Amino acid sequence: MTTAPKAFLIGHPVAHSRSPMMHGHWLKTLGLPGSYEKIDVAPEKLAEFFSSFDEAGWAGGNVTVPHKVDVIPFLDRITEAAEAMGAVNTIWREGDQLVGSNTDASGFMGNLDDLAPGWDASSKKALIIGAGGAARAAAYGLKERGLSVDLCNRTAAKAEELAAHFGAMSGHGLDALPALMRETDLLVNTTSLGMSGKPPLEIDLSPLKPGAIVYDVVYVPLETDILKDAAARGHRTVTGLGMLLHQAVEGFGHWFGQTPQVTEELRALLIDDIRKETPA
Ligand code: ATR
Repeated sequence: MTTAPKAFLIGHPVAHSRSPMMHGHWLKTLGLPGSYEKIDVAPEKLAEFFSSFDEAGWAGGNVTVPHKVDVIPFLDRITEAAEAMGAVNTIWREGDQLVGSNTDASGFMGNLDDLAPGWDASSKKALIIGAGGAARAAAYGLKERGLSVDLCNRTAAKAEELAAHFGAMSGHGLDALPALMRETDLLVNTTSLGMSGKPPLEIDLSPLKPGAIVYDVVYVPLETDILKDAAARGHRTVTGLGMLLHQAVEGFGHWFGQTPQVTEELRALLIDDIRKETPA
């Protein structure tokens, strides 16, 4: 008798993750057997978790803070995306090997493809604000798709460092934004500015090239002020929630054997949950 595949989310803490809601929805709507469970693994218990991996019968799972780098020694191989991101967020089995990947860049790109179809026909240059983890995912994903990428960050040195890490990119301070905005086809905010409870992202969009798309990875609120401003100026906009939804697709496919769709129904489920936490 074969047992239903089991997937995990390990982190410390793991309480606030919306991943169980997404994977649970897909299992239910696709009618697939399987489970997805949150497991709080303290850093000193990580080795123990992996030593009992086979015995526990895991198909794989997701990895969140603080384990995204520390899981790497327990894996047989990591993908090019995980290598580029320097972190693993998804683990699956390939034969008798444990493979670690990072799906943040494919989530970022999947959301862009979904919400701005055809964007790549006219987009050559991207401008990313920020230089943290989300900037890294955006820069890697956009570079892979052949765009030339500039990064602007409050701490210019961090943008320069990230640009050098990927090569063929340039890093700047925020003072370079207006000049770069005149040339860009895709402006991306990857900082947490504009998120509920954080200061606003204060940038003047008037220099932005006409026809440029504006993408904000922040999804609480679902539509940030910068996106409202961009839409009012006639730019196409891309909201951030879909990045969370699309980054989950690849793992689910590996663990449960079917590639799920990011549907309006799933989006509505998550929106409902976010609204409960942050009443408008
Ligand atoms: P994540 O991993 O989610 O991308 P992060 O690594 O904390 O988050 O990155 C946060 C980003 O927001 C950084 O680029 C940060 O700029 P610094 O590198 O200068 O810290 C940017 N950021 C945060 N607060 C900011 C502020 N008040 N003004 C401008 N940039 C800010």
